[in-house]
Amino acid sequence: MNDRVESAFLGHGEEDSNTSSNPTFDSVVQARLSRRSLLRGGVGTAATALLGGLSLAACGGGDDEPAPAAASTGTLLGFAAVAKSLDDRITVPAGYTASVLLALGDPLAAGVSAFRNDGTDSGYDRRVGDDHDGMEYFGLSTTGSPDPASSARALLGINHEYINQLFLHPNGPSPNPRPAGETDIEVDAHGVSIVEIARSGSTYAYVQNSTFNRRITAATEIQFSGPLRGHPLLITKFSPDATKTRGTVNNCGTGKTPWGTLLTGEENWTGYYFRAAGDQALRTAKANTALARYGRNVTGTAAAASRYGWETAGAADKYARWNTSVTGATPADDYRHEINGQGYITEIDPYDPASVVRKRTALGRMAHENAAFGKPVAGKPLAVYLGDDARNEYIYKFVSTDNWVAADATAPNRMATGDKYLDRGKLFAAKFNADGTGQWIELSMANPTVAGFAGYAFADDGDVLMHARLAADAVGATRMDRPEWCAVAGSGEVYFTLTNNSNRRLGTVTGSQLNPDAANPRVYTDIRGASTVQSGNPNGHVIRLRENGGEPAATAFAWDIYLFGAEAGSPTNVINLSGLTSDNDLSSPDGLVYTPSTGLLWVQTDDGAYTDVTNCMMLAAVPGTVGDGGPVTIDYGASGTVTTRAGRKQTATTLKRFLVGPVDQEITGLAETPDGKALFLNVQHPGEETPFSAIGDPSKYTSHWPGNAGYGPGGANARPRSATVVVVKNDGGRVGT
Ligand code: FEO
Ligand code: CA
Ligand code: CA
Ligand code: CA
Repeated sequence: MNDRVESAFLGHGEEDSNTSSNPTFDSVVQARLSRRSLLRGGVGTAATALLGGLSLAACGGGDDEPAPAAASTGTLLGFAAVAKSLDDRITVPAGYTASVLLALGDPLAAGVSAFRNDGTDSGYDRRVGDDHDGMEYFGLSTTGSPDPASSARALLGINHEYINQLFLHPNGPSPNPRPAGETDIEVDAHGVSIVEIARSGSTYAYVQNSTFNRRITAATEIQFSGPLRGHPLLITKFSPDATKTRGTVNNCGTGKTPWGTLLTGEENWTGYYFRAAGDQALRTAKANTALARYGRNVTGTAAAASRYGWETAGAADKYARWNTSVTGATPADDYRHEINGQGYITEIDPYDPASVVRKRTALGRMAHENAAFGKPVAGKPLAVYLGDDARNEYIYKFVSTDNWVAADATAPNRMATGDKYLDRGKLFAAKFNADGTGQWIELSMANPTVAGFAGYAFADDGDVLMHARLAADAVGATRMDRPEWCAVAGSGEVYFTLTNNSNRRLGTVTGSQLNPDAANPRVYTDIRGASTVQSGNPNGHVIRLRENGGEPAATAFAWDIYLFGAEAGSPTNVINLSGLTSDNDLSSPDGLVYTPSTGLLWVQTDDGAYTDVTNCMMLAAVPGTVGDGGPVTIDYGASGTVTTRAGRKQTATTLKRFLVGPVDQEITGLAETPDGKALFLNVQHPGEETPFSAIGDPSKYTSHWPGNAGYGPGGANARPRSATVVVVKNDGGRVGT
C-alpha cells in the first residue's frame, strides 16, 4: 500500500520509528559539501479448472488475429512501450494478452460457492484472500511431484498483504467493537494462498478442487524456528514455552528457496496490535524502547489503536490476542509478547498441504518486504538479501552457517532443508559509503558495538534478532529511502528498490527528517495534481550492489544507483538523473523481480506521487553492472552538494513500460513459467481510495476492475477485487521480447 493511502484511508502512516542518530551521511554530506485470445485456449478446458481467464485489454490483436506462430526468441524489449494511463483496465503492449487468473474470494476447494462479490461472502479460509502481493511459481509434474522445469502445471504461492476492508462487508466495516463475523472474515482474508494452476490452451486457469490448494491465514498455527524458538520474549498465554504462535500478517514480498519452498515477508504488522494507554508504566524501560522502535509506542493517556480493531470483537482468546498489553500477572497469562511473534520471514512448503509453517527467526524481525537468495554455489554459504520497508530503515543480509550442497535442491524433506540453511547463520546490516563502497556489519553479541550499545541493553542473540533495527542503529547502518523489494540478477548483483522518502530534507532537519547522502542523494519537490506539494524523494530510486569477489559471505561491496524514478521532463540536474522519457518514466518503484528466462528485471510501482498522470505500472529493464555509469554531483546551492554514484542513463533498449494497471491499485508480485512464455503478476487493491461513505453507491467506487472486464459478477458496477493476472505473448514467444 502506498503511504498516501495508508495515512488518509487507514488512519496511520507507514512506520516511521527510526529516530536514531545514525550517521545518514549527514556527516558525509557535510564533509563533501561537498494483455482474444484468452480464450483462444478454449473455454471447454476451463470448465474443469473453473475459471479461464478473460480478455482484458490488448492494444493490438483483434479477434481476427492469426493463430500463434512458432515461438519467437525475440529481441529483449522488442515491444512498443505502453503509454501512461488513468483508464480502469489493464493495458499491455500490442501482441500481448493479459487475462485474470484468479481474484479475491474465488473458491479454492470443491463445494465452495462462487464468489458473489456483494459483501455477503464468507469462508475466506477456503477462498482466495485479499490484496495479492508477492508471488512465486512452483512447477508440478503430471504426477504431482515437484518439477522445476514444468511450464504446464504448477502451484502459485500468493501473499495477501492486507484487506480492502470497505468491500469485504455488505455496508463496509462496522465500527468498534467489531462484530465477530466481520472480524473472522478479515482475519481469514489475510495470509497466503497456495493455488494449483494449469496451462489451458494459450493461457492458464486455476484448479478449484486441487488437493494442493491451501490457505494460511492470520489464525493458522505456526512454529517459531531458529534462535528465537523458546525465547522468553515469545512466551504468551497461547504458547508458554514460546514455540508457536498464530498467523502471519501483512504478507508483502516473497522469496523462493533453492530447495523449492515459499518465503513470505511479514511487513506492516505492528499496526494490527492494540496497546493500551498506561501500558508503558507496566513495562521495563527496555521493553518500551523496543516497542517504540517497532511502532507501538504509547505515551501519557493515549493508547496505540489497532488498524482493524480485532481485539474488540469479543472475549474469546482469538480476539483478545490482538491486545498486546500487559493484562495478566506473567507473560504466560496474557498477550504482551504477541506482537513479538510477527515480523519474520516465514517458510511454507507449497508441495505439502499438511506441512507445518515455520517463522525463520534467524533472518531478523523487521517490516520485511521480500527475501532474495544470492546465486547458490556448492561449497559456499547461502546469502539472503532483505529490506526493512519503513522510512529511514535498513538493508540486511543473512548468511547461512552451512555451505550449500547441490543435492539439497531436491531433498524430499524441504522444511528440514530450511532448518539447515535458515536457522543457523549471521545477520548483517548495510552501510553505504560515499565513495561507492559499502560494508556488511554483523548484528550479534559477538560484535562489541552491538553488545555494548548504550541505547538498548541486548540480553542475548535472540534479543538482537528480534530487535534487529536497534542493533542496526547501534552499528551505524545507513538509513535508506524505504527499502522495498530486492532482486538478484544473473550477474549476481543485487538490486534494491527504495520506493520514496517524504522525510529527506536539505538544511536543518528535525525529528525523523534526514539530509541527503550518497546512497539517498535526492531532495526535491514535485507537484501532484494542481498544487499538492510533495517533498523529500517522492519518486524513489533503485540501488544495486556487487559483493566483493562475488562472495556470498563478503563483508564489503561496491554500489551505485541503477535507476532514479522521475517524471519525464523534470529537471535533469537533480530529479531525472536517469534520462527517463515518456516511454519509461515512473515513480515509487516497489516490486522488483528478475526473470532468468529472459534476463530481464521487472520494475513495478506502488505510487501515490505520479497517480495524477498515470495508474501504477510495470516496466521491463535490462540490468547493467555496478559502475556502468559514474559519479554525479547534485548541486543544492546554499545547502551544498551531494556526490553519488549513478548507473548508466536509461534508453529505449534498457527500460520500457510494459503494463499499466487499473485505478487506485499497485502492480506487485511477479512469477514466470520456466519457459518464459507466461508471466503472472498481481493487481493489488484496485479502487482503494474509494471513501467509506461511498458503499452502496457503485458510481462512487473509483474502480470496478476486474468486473468491468467481464471477470466475475457485477460488471460495470462491480466492487473492485485484487487479482492475479497472466500475461502471454500472442505469438507464443517469451514475455518481454
Ligand atoms: Fe508491502 Fe513495502 O510494500
Ligand atoms: Ca507531479
Ligand atoms: Ca511492496
Ligand atoms: Ca510500497
